[in-house]
Amino acid sequence: MKGIQTEVPPVWVMRQAGRYLPEYRALREKAGGFLDLCYTPEFAIEATLQPIKRFGFDAAILFSDILVIPDALGRSVRFDAGHGPQLDPMSIDDIDGLEPENIINHLKPVLEAVEGIRSDLPADTSLLGFCGAPWTVATYMIAGHGTPDQAPARIFAHQYPEAFERLLNIIAKCSAEYLVAQFRAGADAVQIFDSWASVLDQDQFEKWCTRPVKKIVELVRREIDNAPIIGFPKGIGSFYQDYRSHTDIDMMGLDWAMPMSFAKKLQEQGPVQGNLDPTRLIAGGRALDEGVDVILEQLGNGPLVFNLGHGITPQTPIVHVEQMLKRIRG
Ligand code: CP3
Repeated sequence: MKGIQTEVPPVWVMRQAGRYLPEYRALREKAGGFLDLCYTPEFAIEATLQPIKRFGFDAAILFSDILVIPDALGRSVRFDAGHGPQLDPMSIDDIDGLEPENIINHLKPVLEAVEGIRSDLPADTSLLGFCGAPWTVATYMIAGHGTPDQAPARIFAHQYPEAFERLLNIIAKCSAEYLVAQFRAGADAVQIFDSWASVLDQDQFEKWCTRPVKKIVELVRREIDNAPIIGFPKGIGSFYQDYRSHTDIDMMGLDWAMPMSFAKKLQEQGPVQGNLDPTRLIAGGRALDEGVDVILEQLGNGPLVFNLGHGITPQTPIVHVEQMLKRIRG
């Protein structure tokens, strides 16, 4: 995070606690619902620590979800088995009904989990907190579910820009408050996930992606001096060039779909994280070794946190994660 280089880059994996682990599937069954897992500190602590115990990653990431913010705002989020997240779709009239005053109270069990994780983690393992970027969180709030291109939120933003800005401001303020609370509970750094940043045109990108993220960064650093913040605006291509300077994040999370020469240029501006294609981790074998080697060759001599370019998927074999770690750590 601070750009201090180590001989072997630190490594963790986005979505490292999840369904590819049998111990996670067992815990998920015991907890009942996905949100029960998130809101029961004992379970959230256990889920967070599972990949650390199994693989010895250099960082743990709080087990939770970006959609606890809409849930805390009163939009009743549900995760039914076999479906993605389901929320009540939002109309313009629902914005004034959001309940930003009480979010920290609603999220207390998550913050309790952060404290518990920190006290159980080895001292040299970093603890990452996180939230979703306002744009990505809003896409789920407006559509009520995931969509292939986030057209419902894009149309809403074009039709009602003032209302949309109000919505993003509410999400940004709550997210900042939530991240500050995570730092106070023991997080060493936080990541802002903007998984859907790639669907915006230039004007919209500046308004709905970078501006609200910058606002979160500012609000968090008002409370936490030099708070280390990772930005992950997935898939934004050439917009990566100015993302760091426009948002003030410290480390930039990179997806895999970019020339390595471009990734290297971005690394000259500061620390980067990434960017193995998650399907190489599913395929294993040479595809995996070659993917790891290219990243180490191209980015290994600068400030790098090794990670995937997006989350690990349920069909990933555990032996491939072991193979990846062995390759990175020699
Ligand atoms: O990285 C970690 O291990 C921490 C936990 C974490 C989860 N979600 C747990 C989870 C994190 C950091 C997230 C972030 C998240 N959640 C994002 C941004 C990152 C990304 O992947 O793009 C998004 C867009 C969400 C919203 C979300 N949550 C979706 C679309 C889904 C359904 C898709 C899926 O993978 O099932 C979820 C559910 C979810 N969040 C699961 C987990 C482990 C699976 C739920 C289950 O166990 O049934």
